[in-house]
Amino acid sequence: MFPDQIIDSLRGLKTPFYYYDLDVLRSTLTAVKEHGLSRGYHIHFALKANHQTRLLELIRSYGLGADCVSGGEITRALEAGFTPADIAFAGVGKSDDEILLALEKDIFCFNCESPQELEVINSLASKIGTRARIALRLNPNVNAETHHYITTGLNENKFGINEEDLDDVLDKLPELENLELIGIHFHIGSQVEKLEPFRELCSRANELNNYIEDKGFKLSVINVGGGFGINYADPNGHSIPDFESFFGLFDEHIVLKDHQKLHFELGRSIIGQSGSLITKVLYTKSGRAKNFAVVDAGMTELIRPALYQASHNIDVLTSELPPKKYDVVGPICESSDTFRKDIEIPELHRGDLVAIRSCGAYGEVMKSQYNLRPQIASVYSDELA
Ligand code: LLP
Repeated sequence: MFPDQIIDSLRGLKTPFYYYDLDVLRSTLTAVKEHGLSRGYHIHFALKANHQTRLLELIRSYGLGADCVSGGEITRALEAGFTPADIAFAGVGKSDDEILLALEKDIFCFNCESPQELEVINSLASKIGTRARIALRLNPNVNAETHHYITTGLNENKFGINEEDLDDVLDKLPELENLELIGIHFHIGSQVEKLEPFRELCSRANELNNYIEDKGFKLSVINVGGGFGINYADPNGHSIPDFESFFGLFDEHIVLKDHQKLHFELGRSIIGQSGSLITKVLYTKSGRAKNFAVVDAGMTELIRPALYQASHNIDVLTSELPPKKYDVVGPICESSDTFRKDIEIPELHRGDLVAIRSCGAYGEVMKSQYNLRPQIASVYSDELA
């Protein structure tokens, strides 16, 4: 990912910054097309993972739709060229303004998460004389076996409509005249590394699909969400997730009726491996027990290690000295502002550049201005001299 020529071009840029390798993204999208889109699946890119317009334009050009969780993301998706018919709107707390925006734009579908939300969308749609297409987000109670902060499909999680409420919701729907039920939606969690939870999801989705259709509703959309994980430990060896197995599993286990299409909302697996956070070593210091490399990016630029104890690989770009053990830490006054502990990497000196890998998803979008940190740039591989 970082041949000498690229490193030479990166050297002159103001750090820290996010760097996106568009060749990796193109190869990933080609695999999504080959194994997913070619099966007739509708794949919405989850903007929550990354909302850089340049990246969205490329993603759209391969035929993906958009999965948005705020009015801001809907606006951004439209700016990047997605049509309203490409856009699904999800989220457990949609505000009235966001619902009105989505209704006015006539987006494809609202993924609805509670009985009360259905009433609110119905009344806002009625107020402006329109109808909303909706999918019910159902909680499949499948354990995604991922970090507890990013598991979403269990009964204890705040997301989706629980099984006990489903009959009431279905009984009530016919009275909500400004809603049109077009589908069901699931999402079990994020960074799901095994395929088994998705197989369980298929069997729950099949049961619920039959149950609701047997009650006389016609569901054209079966949306199984996102969550497919990436390999953080070996981004070079696994730069493209195994979409053949992922989509192949759904092909084998989901049962669709003739009028139904399978939809996905993938974020991390599409953009994760394309992005790196490039940062410069400010200081090296040896404590009693440790060597520290203090870099100029912190948890303000990449919060995943501090928030989820995530481990991102670190490539040293400008040193080939013999290895030394470091804690690589940021400049923020929080002990959790640590990217890696006890990592063996080539000896570092002030001014060396390092790349924190697999940061394309939930990296740049989660940055903050804590400590009044400055805004940072996004750099794309095709812009380098
Ligand atoms: N659909 C729904 C309803 C979701 O909640 C999510 C992610 C996705 C799709 C996309 O999931 P993906 O394919 O990217 O796994 N900030 C955390 C991840 C939060 C994920 C939230 N929901 C992290 O950095 O790991």
